[in-house]
Amino acid sequence: MSLRPIIAPSLLAADFARLGEEVRAVQAAGADWLHIDVMDGHFVPNITLGPDIVRALKPHATVPMDVHLMIAPADPYLEAFVEAGADIVSVHPESGPHLNRTLKRIRQLGARAGVVFNPSTSPSVIEWMMDEVDLILVMSINPGFGGQTFMHSQLAKIEALRRMIDASGRDIVLEVDGGVTAETARLCVDAGATALVAGTAVFRGGPDAYAANIAALRG
Ligand code: DX5
Ligand code: ZN
Repeated sequence: MSLRPIIAPSLLAADFARLGEEVRAVQAAGADWLHIDVMDGHFVPNITLGPDIVRALKPHATVPMDVHLMIAPADPYLEAFVEAGADIVSVHPESGPHLNRTLKRIRQLGARAGVVFNPSTSPSVIEWMMDEVDLILVMSINPGFGGQTFMHSQLAKIEALRRMIDASGRDIVLEVDGGVTAETARLCVDAGATALVAGTAVFRGGPDAYAANIAALRG
């Protein structure tokens, strides 16, 4: 696979005091999506953004908003995030008892539905659900914080999920999140990833560096 990957800067690494400007700057620098990390201090040991921030940023967004929910339960908040402007909503299977129902609900609300794999989560979780999924997100770190080191053990999982997607015949995005740098981006794309989330690697150096940082991730 050598397709041009979708680059989704994670706003977790942006300047939170200037979020609207940061969104405009990464879009001007070539971002394909905006990745928004929602954490509740319960499912993961950190607290970040909620639907009000998504709503506030929506008028500034010219690209899809890719919302990664690290909250439990997630179901009570799906509607709020889609109404606020989320185009893609991804959930961790561990965040609730009925993944199939959650995915159906996300689509019913009008968004694309994603499933996120923690480093220890097996691809088999979605074996019987390939028709309900629009995006698969492989975490190459433990969720909760930016700036962690890429776990190479997850490359084999990306390859396994690539095979499952190809066998399904469906156009499912295979996204990787955590420790993505110019170097690890290549490994992910070679393993079959079609979308890359990057926080630190995009936002380091400030706005003047964003275009070069994004270009470096594309390889
Ligand atoms: C962590 C988040 C990631 C994070 C990635 O739980 O899901 O999106 O922002 O940050 P970097 O690219 O710095 O590893
Ligand atoms: Zn994320």
